[in-house]
Amino acid sequence: MLQEIGTIQTSFDTDLKSISSVQDLEGIKSKYLGKTGLIPQLYKQLGRLSPEEKKEIGSKLNDLRHKAQTGLSEALIAFEEKIFLEKSRKNMVDMTLPLPKAAYGGRHPITQTMEYLIELLAQMGFDVGEGPELEHEDFNFTYLNIPEHHPARDDHDTFYIQKPWLLRTHTSPVQIHYMKKYTELPIQMIAPGRVYRADDDATHSPMFHQIEGLWVDKGIHFGHLKAMIKAFLQEIFEMDQVRFRPSFFPFTEPSAEVDIGCVFCNGRGCRVCKQTGWLEVMGSGLVHPKVLQYGGVEDPAVSGLAFGLGVERLTMLLFRIPDMRMLFDNDPRVLTKAARHRHFPHIREDA
Ligand code: PHE
Repeated sequence: MLQEIGTIQTSFDTDLKSISSVQDLEGIKSKYLGKTGLIPQLYKQLGRLSPEEKKEIGSKLNDLRHKAQTGLSEALIAFEEKIFLEKSRKNMVDMTLPLPKAAYGGRHPITQTMEYLIELLAQMGFDVGEGPELEHEDFNFTYLNIPEHHPARDDHDTFYIQKPWLLRTHTSPVQIHYMKKYTELPIQMIAPGRVYRADDDATHSPMFHQIEGLWVDKGIHFGHLKAMIKAFLQEIFEMDQVRFRPSFFPFTEPSAEVDIGCVFCNGRGCRVCKQTGWLEVMGSGLVHPKVLQYGGVEDPAVSGLAFGLGVERLTMLLFRIPDMRMLFDNDPRVLTKAARHRHFPHIREDA
C-alpha cells in the first residue's frame, strides 16, 4: 500500500501540472478526492491492516489527502490569477503614451482686435469714452442731426425697446455724451462698444462692434482727418493703399468713406472685394456744426473730425475670416486662429 500511495502522489503531481482550464481542476479533484476517487478507495483498504500498519499507513494517507487538497486549492488560485493577468494585459493602459492635446481657450478674435485697436489709438492720444447700449433716440438720432421723420432713421433697422428707448445703432451717440461731459479742449476720444441693427446675413450680424473716434479742437480740418486715418490704417495693414471716397452721413460734413487695398488679393480683385480691389473699412468726416452745438461746443472757431469703424470687418481682415457669421459660431477653429499680424500676441494655432 505504501507503494500505491507513492504512485498516486506522483500521478497527482503530473496531472496537476498539465491543467489548462478550471474544468481540468474539477476533473482531477473528483479523480483523486471524489467519493469513489483514488484516495478514498485507499482509505477503505485501511480496515484490512493491523493496528501498527494502520497507524503508519493511515498517517501517510492523511498526508497524501492533505497534499492533494492544498495542491488543488493552490492550483485554483494560481490559475485564476493567471487568467486575471491575461485579461488585464489586454486592457492595459500605457502610461507612457503622450496625452491628447488639451483644447486651450483664448481671447475671442474680436476682443483681440478691439484691444489692439484701442491700444493703437491710445498711443495716438485718444481717451476711451463710454455710452449706454440702451439709448435714447435723441442721442442715437436727433443730436446727430437725424431729426424725426428723416429718411436716415429708416436706414438703421433700429431695434426699438419702447419709444423713445432703443438699442443704439452705432457708437456715434457717445460723441454727444462725451462732449457734454468733458468740455475742456482738445477733445480726443474713442468709444468702443456693441451696437445693434435688425440685420442678419453673411456680412451683417444683429449685434456687432464699432469704435467711434472724435477729435475736437480749434482749427481741425480735413487734412487732419486724412493724415490721422492714413497713419492709423497704414500702421495696422502695413501698406500705402488708403483712399477716401465722398459719402454722406447726417452728422458729418463733408463725409468720406475710407477704403484700403484688398488684403486678400493685394488689389487685383477677388470675391471678398467684389472685384474692385478695395475694401471699405470705415466712415468718417468733419463733425457737422449742429452736432457740435448739441454737444455744447459753442465757439465757431472749434471744429472736429469723427470716424467710425466696424470691428468685425477689421477682425475678418486681420484673421483672414471670410464670413462674419463665423465670428459668432464659437467654432474652436475660429476661436484659436492666430492673426496674421506682427502686433498680435501669438495664439497656439495647434491647440
Ligand atoms: N456712425 C456711422 C455708421 O455707423 C459711422 C461714422 C461715424 C461715420 C463717425 C462718420 C463719422 O455707419
